[in-house]
Amino acid sequence: MKIAVIGTGNVGGALATKWAHKGHEIFLGVRDVSNFKGKDLLQNPQTSLHTIQEAVAQSEVVLLATPAITAIETTKSLGDTTGKIIIDAANIVNGRGPRGFDSVTEAIIAYTTTDDVVKCFNTTGYNNMKDTAYGEQTLDMFVAGDSPHGKLVAIDLAHDAGFGACYDIGGNDKFDLMEQFARFWINLSLNQGHGRDIGFKVLKR
Ligand SMILES: NC(=O)c1ccc[n+]([C@@H]2O[C@H](COP(=O)([O-])OP(=O)(O)OC[C@H]3O[C@@H](n4cnc5c(N)ncnc54)[C@H](OP(=O)(O)O)[C@@H]3O)[C@@H](O)[C@H]2O)c1
Repeated sequence: MKIAVIGTGNVGGALATKWAHKGHEIFLGVRDVSNFKGKDLLQNPQTSLHTIQEAVAQSEVVLLATPAITAIETTKSLGDTTGKIIIDAANIVNGRGPRGFDSVTEAIIAYTTTDDVVKCFNTTGYNNMKDTAYGEQTLDMFVAGDSPHGKLVAIDLAHDAGFGACYDIGGNDKFDLMEQFARFWINLSLNQGHGRDIGFKVLKR
């Protein structure tokens, strides 16, 4: 697929690298093409550098991996997103997010023209996106949103990023729950001292 990666830091960089090596075409969209985080991503296969609007215009899927506090500004900068899928990976942490919204994804929906906005890749650390393996097991991923098409694409991209299963958590009403789940991981990992090398897998019997 043609994927615009907006936010080329820890999360955007980890996913762009995985997807490029799976054969996807990656359009890095940055604010300043001469000064941005993740310049080494250009060494990945079929990865190119663009302004944000150029990257979005050429892509079918847009990954937003930018700070929550910039959600409205970043969404406005995308240009026309009609017919494209937006995957939001951002989390409000310590209350720093778009004013008037319970989740980043709700703010994105309010300022974009596409109906296909889903939340995915927000519930674990970027280190787990770089390496999903824990011994013989692989971590799971989770997705939410009202767009069935968007969720199917995100699930495929979760598999391409190396996650085991990608569970459908529900519709747009679950965006806040997804961010709470991310804050649960942050709490366990960083506040309770378990470190970043922990992650979630659903066990069944
Ligand atoms: N870190 C994690 O483990 C983790 C895990 C899950 C989800 N998340 C979420 O993912 C998001 C990104 O986290 P990160 O750790 O990857 O951050 P990061 O490494 O600091 O990277 C942030 C990226 O966002 C870009 N950016 C900042 N403001 C922007 C704006 N107004 N418009 C467009 N791009 C902008 C930066 O661009 P420049 O290069 O121009 O500075 C940079 O490429 C956050 O919402 C975070 O909550 C993080």
